[in-house]
Amino acid sequence: MKTKIAQKKKPASTKKKTVEKKKPVKKPAEPSESKIQKNLRTISLLRGMKDITPKDELYWRTAYHKAEEMANAYGFEFMETPALEEAVLFTRSLGKDTDVVDKEMYVFEDRDGTRVALRPEWTAGAVRAYINHGMQSLPQPVKVWNYGAIFRHDRPQAGRFRQFHQFGCETIGQRHPCLDAELILVAYNFLKDLGIHANVNINSIGNLEDRQNYTIELVGYLRSKRSYLCENCKKRINKNPLRVLDCKEESCAEVIQESPQIIEWLGEESKTYFMKVLECLDELGIPYILKSTLVRGLDYYCDTVFEFFEDGNEEKSQNALGGGGRYDMLVEQLGGQPTPAAGFALGLERVISILRAKEDNKNLLEKPWSKVFFAQLGDQANYKALKLIEEMRLQGVIVRHNLAKASLKGQMETADKLGATHTLILGQKEVHDGTIIIRDMDSGNQEIVDQNKLIAEIKKTIKTAKPRK
Ligand code: HAM
Repeated sequence: MKTKIAQKKKPASTKKKTVEKKKPVKKPAEPSESKIQKNLRTISLLRGMKDITPKDELYWRTAYHKAEEMANAYGFEFMETPALEEAVLFTRSLGKDTDVVDKEMYVFEDRDGTRVALRPEWTAGAVRAYINHGMQSLPQPVKVWNYGAIFRHDRPQAGRFRQFHQFGCETIGQRHPCLDAELILVAYNFLKDLGIHANVNINSIGNLEDRQNYTIELVGYLRSKRSYLCENCKKRINKNPLRVLDCKEESCAEVIQESPQIIEWLGEESKTYFMKVLECLDELGIPYILKSTLVRGLDYYCDTVFEFFEDGNEEKSQNALGGGGRYDMLVEQLGGQPTPAAGFALGLERVISILRAKEDNKNLLEKPWSKVFFAQLGDQANYKALKLIEEMRLQGVIVRHNLAKASLKGQMETADKLGATHTLILGQKEVHDGTIIIRDMDSGNQEIVDQNKLIAEIKKTIKTAKPRK
């Protein structure tokens, strides 16, 4: 074998042939586990992203539960559109010169060359789906709710993430002041039920004609104040002057504050419509603040626009808990029949950060499994435990356990940490006798019961059990 290799490699030569000594081939050493760990860097979260870990589980489950309950109570049906859409869906609906499209959208070329975007909001997708699924032939309005992750390449800071979650509702197919008020009511009550007292900031930006008239006035004013504006807003004067009104730069704040008020440029129809929305809110007892500079940062809006803030926490736009408004032109802009619509979205990270800071969160869901722990000792008990736990689960009794732990002491400590009110103990003797011990974790009292009666017995016992601190 050795010579064969040498012959193959060495070309014929006139020089004296030397038999090449084959160097022993060094097998690469198997990297030890610790070496693997040393050589590989740990992978961190991307900027602006966050994990939702079990410690936040109850906040997130409560928010979802409440969103579902609210949406159902007001007749909204669940709809989920994909996270990935054609980018043009958003450029055409939100507007090219908006911050979301201009600076924040995650856009890339898909493998087939299509320009796609991660959804930077729910509304455009909902309208696309309304058109695609022929929902205009359903009884109107079509009321849908959505819940899930949204992506914006925003500058990360408190309350601003690059992946965040929104709960939103859209009412598509009719125009009526009561529908605008109902949307505000759903969001307001969602927050109220979570123990958050919200203020509603509201304005009207009228119809297209109103906005065109107002824009002429606004551009004149902004040109006179050009030198005070940030570089972006200087460009916006000609491209999309309304966007100056939602600029977040401090330098622009004073100019915006003193700008002409859009409400004064509304035509009769728009004014009457807005007054009726306010009357509905009065009737419902929802407090609101008229905010003349509120125009919202997306191009599809008309007439009613609104935002929600926690009471006393309104100075910065990044504190907005949510917002929405009417968008009567959007269905048509996306290729459908002229169809009025309105909606809102709430930012759940901001909502949950308020809940987390609260001491008395009465409305948080409880962990359903914390009452009973199953401890076992010995091989036979180990296998039997698995079967009993499954039987209990089928009868609606959720049990925590650690079947990989052998020591009873260790298991009792886990039961205690988990706040179990009762621990079931199964040892060799109990397996043999067909019994099981129910231990009250507070008093330490133990009761031996027949395994066949376990489920009925434990159901009775935990019914009256008070949660442990
Ligand atoms: P939006 O005002 O762009 O409206 O977003 C709604 C809410 O999402 C904001 O008020 C805020 O709470 C949250 N949010 C926005 N950006 C971020 C971020 N980077 N990090 C964390 N939370 C954020 C819309 O999205 C419209 N589609 C609402 C709508 C529905 N209008 C009609 N229908």
